[in-house]
Amino acid sequence: MDNDIERTLFHEQTILRRLDELAAEITAEYEGRDLTVIAVLNGSLFFMADLLRRIQLPLSLDCLSVSSYHGGTESSGTVTFDQTSLPDVNGRHVLILDDILDTGRTLHAICRRLNAEGNPASIRICVLLKKNKVRDEEMEADYSGFEIGDEFVVGYGLDYQERYRNLPYIGVLKREVFANS
Ligand code: IMP
Ligand code: MG
Repeated sequence: MDNDIERTLFHEQTILRRLDELAAEITAEYEGRDLTVIAVLNGSLFFMADLLRRIQLPLSLDCLSVSSYHGGTESSGTVTFDQTSLPDVNGRHVLILDDILDTGRTLHAICRRLNAEGNPASIRICVLLKKNKVRDEEMEADYSGFEIGDEFVVGYGLDYQERYRNLPYIGVLKREVFANS
């Protein structure tokens, strides 16, 4: 897998150090409140596991599975929910975890549905990565690990055609990998 990577953006230790900071911020912010974390699978799996173990608060955890890519490197524009019912968020302070904020469509669709179907006390967004670009949907992250340029990255949960999620670091794929698939 390492041979398919053009350059490393964030080493594992860099990611984990940043998660220490994010977790401290979140712990301070939600002290004394009923926190419900909703993680968006599969991309946020490793992020979720490493971040939540650093948050020193009681919390409940739910996962959602959505897809917007269907294989390539460009978002398809439609967000499909794999579950018919969403977690109960009534009266809860909800923190949504996702791997990356790109076009904003996924998180926008999730927030819209949570607000339409429940009555959360608050909803905030926490992403590992934020792409620096103009988004299709107005959507900002309340917490983000790192800002990156508008390029396709893999590793630490992020995939290209379901591969590379288990790379322990985040990197940019070589062009020939896209060209040959
Ligand atoms: P959205 O475009 O903000 O709706 O992001 C949708 C999803 O696309 C994210 O949750 C990721 O799973 C995926 N995605 C966006 N950019 C990248 C990338 O650079 N690498 C891998 N997956 C990405
Ligand atoms: Mg993906």
